[in-house]
Amino acid sequence: MPVLDGPIRRLGRTSVDWDEEFREALLVAASSAVRGDAYQGVTAVKHLIAVLRERDPELAERLKSAIGTGGSSTRNAALSPGRVAAAPLDLDRRMPLSTIQNPMEGLAPVLAPEPAARLAELLDEHRRAELLERSGLQPRRTMLLTGPPGVGKTMVARWMARSLELPLAEANISVIVSSFLGRTAQNIHELFEFARANPVVLFLDEFDALSKQRDDAHEVGEMKRAVSTLLLELDRPPQHGLVIAATNHLQLVDLAIRRRFDTSIELDIADADVAVSILELHLKQDLPVPIRNVAKETLAGTSGAHIKTLADAARRRAALSETEVSTCLLQELARTAKTTESRKILAQRLRTVLNDDANSMSSIAELLGVSKSTVHGYLRGTNK
Ligand SMILES: Nc1ncnc2c1ncn2[C@@H]1O[C@H](COP(=O)(O)OP(=O)(O)OP(=O)(O)O)[C@@H](O)[C@H]1O
Ligand SMILES: [Mg+2]
Repeated sequence: MPVLDGPIRRLGRTSVDWDEEFREALLVAASSAVRGDAYQGVTAVKHLIAVLRERDPELAERLKSAIGTGGSSTRNAALSPGRVAAAPLDLDRRMPLSTIQNPMEGLAPVLAPEPAARLAELLDEHRRAELLERSGLQPRRTMLLTGPPGVGKTMVARWMARSLELPLAEANISVIVSSFLGRTAQNIHELFEFARANPVVLFLDEFDALSKQRDDAHEVGEMKRAVSTLLLELDRPPQHGLVIAATNHLQLVDLAIRRRFDTSIELDIADADVAVSILELHLKQDLPVPIRNVAKETLAGTSGAHIKTLADAARRRAALSETEVSTCLLQELARTAKTTESRKILAQRLRTVLNDDANSMSSIAELLGVSKSTVHGYLRGTNK
């Protein structure tokens, strides 16, 4: 198959043989049409347009209107799993090196302003890659996501694939890391070749397992070879799509590998505002302000995964008991408030929420599963 990324790279140079570019792009477009590969075809036509823009602007315009909105519909076509070649296999165990999913549905993650803005910027580069290409530039192709467990790294990878309308090829790290000599490095190479040949978001979760520091005294030659291969592969990332690596243990990742990524984004546990937005997202409803405040204080500093578990528990409880979700949420918050300090905060907040309730002390005691005198103790010395 003709190499598609040739024309794009060469477009950035000052002296270009336009005839050669034109012929090559035309060949790619034609062979894609014959193979029925709409994504490659439209991409090739876009290259033709770029080549023609200077020399024959009228033809460039006509080609542009001919593909019309084909860009997005063909991307949707690429979403069907049949459009993507089967994932490569580990040759010894005959197991796939990645699973391919089409994350068409799902919630968008709630993130702190900085990572949210940086991800939006990256998406924008990919959506308007054509504009960048006109200036001989490319969108960033590799991203390292870091952060503690449960902060949404996997969720972000799925959401990026969905936003880019591309399938997600999630690497099976346990298959890639092989006990056969040289196989791990070869598997890494095969996986990147696959991503180069198919427009996908390649997701390397638990990335530290592939990219351990090479000076690690316990590390054997096999992993050193794997890291060297990764360095080479990251130096020539796929020319469409995106490579996302995620790790909870950035400190374990080889320094040279870290530097290879076009961008690195850190996700963190939620502050009070983000926590309550994650909660409302998973509860599928907004909360009354006083209950929001209770949630803010108790959930700040926890992970999105923890908040999601809590929201699901509250919704289940509400469905089974036919009670308001917000009441069930308070019960769940009370159940998970383990330390005396958090129980105190909750008791104080609940008093505000239950302000009009003449039996508020008994209600708080019941919610917290403690006696009324303990609640009095929690509230002693605090004003309403
Ligand atoms: N920022 C977030 N916004 C909304 N929901 C979130 C967020 N973070 C986590 N969640 C919820 O928690 C679930 C688990 O999070 P996810 O698996 O993405 O975390 P992770 O960072 O990949 O964790 P790990 O390091 O353990 O792999 C998500 O599917 C989602 O429902
Ligand atoms: Mg994960």
